[in-house]
Amino acid sequence: MAKEIRKKSNFVGVVEREIKNAEIMKDKEHPNVLCIKDVEETKESVIVYSKYYKGKTLEDYMDTRAILPINEVKNFFTEILQGLYFLHSKGIVHRDMKNENVFLEIKEDKKYRAVIGDLGFARDTKDSMDTIIGTPITMSPELFEYEVYSDSVDIWALGSMLYKMCFGKYPFEEGNLKKTSRKESTH
Ligand SMILES: Nc1ncnc2c1ncn2[C@@H]1O[C@H](COP(=O)(O)OP(=O)(O)O)[C@@H](O)[C@H]1O
Ligand SMILES: [Mg+2]
Repeated sequence: MAKEIRKKSNFVGVVEREIKNAEIMKDKEHPNVLCIKDVEETKESVIVYSKYYKGKTLEDYMDTRAILPINEVKNFFTEILQGLYFLHSKGIVHRDMKNENVFLEIKEDKKYRAVIGDLGFARDTKDSMDTIIGTPITMSPELFEYEVYSDSVDIWALGSMLYKMCFGKYPFEEGNLKKTSRKESTH
């Protein structure tokens, strides 16, 4: 599978970041994290080659189900947690954890394996992070408050993902996000 990132991107630094992330991830393998095989830079674009995951994303899978049975929640959440723990242990913060960015790979026994994908917003945890980036519905209060933040933003998102698996929607509606962030961040 090849993902092409056009160099005329509107997001400043996005191309450099994709190259860096792809390079960082190339020699790291974990069953629950997208496997990047190569990265190629041309004049017009950057092409990231990764393993092809046959199957749906967790978001698509949930589209046809209001909520997931507890056993599926347990399995998916455990796998996503293991993948995220691996990323964090390698010094990478994902910054766009959401059900849409989890692929459900179909294994040989026809069961699913959750794989964290889309490392486009990922960052080295050693770098200071203060950019408001991600997807609003799963973004944590410290991101909104524009404070320096760490890999804890992924844990917040992970909590939102778990909530959605159990209750069919994310815990905070988009309209209430600012209010929520202000309230939570005073604790
Ligand atoms: N390695 C892959 N294997 C299978 N499908 C993929 C793969 N990478 C991306 N996709 C498909 O493309 C979609 C968008 O990919 P993603 O990496 O999340 O890019 P974006 O930055 O556009 O969100 C995914 O939801 C998935 O359907
Ligand atoms: Mg994505």
